[in-house]
Amino acid sequence: MAKDKPKLPDQVPQHIAIIMDGNGRWAKQRGLPRLAGHRAGTDNLRRIIEACVEFGVKYLTIYAFSTENWGRPEDEVSGLMSIFDEVFERELTELHRQGVQLRHLGRLEGLRESLREKVRNGLELTKNNNRLVLNVAFNYGGRDEIVHAIKSMLKESMAPGAVTEDLVSRYLYTSGIPDPDLVIRTSGEQRISNFLIWQAAYAEWVFPETLWPDFGREELLAAIQEFGRRERRFGLILEH
Ligand code: IPE
Ligand code: IPE
Ligand code: MG
Repeated sequence: MAKDKPKLPDQVPQHIAIIMDGNGRWAKQRGLPRLAGHRAGTDNLRRIIEACVEFGVKYLTIYAFSTENWGRPEDEVSGLMSIFDEVFERELTELHRQGVQLRHLGRLEGLRESLREKVRNGLELTKNNNRLVLNVAFNYGGRDEIVHAIKSMLKESMAPGAVTEDLVSRYLYTSGIPDPDLVIRTSGEQRISNFLIWQAAYAEWVFPETLWPDFGREELLAAIQEFGRRERRFGLILEH
């Protein structure tokens, strides 16, 4: 089916970050196991990546697994690891073909070796692509990221006077990536859940009710249009 030409605002967010929430509820509504929801959620990613390319978004960050998610039941955690492993393997060539540069936000330690190896290869393969930068926050926590940055600075015997906001940003996993302009959390939940707590300081937020596996191109477009209606002030007073 031909897609309608999207009505994009003058300002399309350069960087969109998404808390992909609601997979479990999506499965429950259908009487399916939670992992079926996670599968549907990962399948949904493909259309969102394509839509981001279509709309001219340059950076997409997705929250796939938090440092707190390790506390879920063992079968859900191992199921999520297997899904991620499979999806990485299956989608990598296509992502590369589409010109997507993959980046990982979070710690590789703690993941099984086969997965670590796949992630390293994927980052290496796609590092020169520039159509869309896809940051995958996996085994990611915002507080963990800041602790990691502080430790790195201390190890390098950084002088206190040298520590600035710019410098801290450079020690985060998102080093070199502009802050998100728009953060979307699906499923109606309205909280940050340890996601980009430094970087989203001045992001605009939207909270669509749609559960992540059902969140498609039209919903993404609606979020971008909502962003276009916002007035970002960054603490200033704007003249009209
Ligand atoms: C988000 O969906 C995906 C992960 C946290 C891995 P959830 O699994 O949190 O789904 P709900 O919130 O239980 O519906
Ligand atoms: C945030 O969702 C993590 C991801 C989407 C990966 P959660 O479902 O884990 O967050 P809480 O527990 O509802 O805050
Ligand atoms: Mg959830």
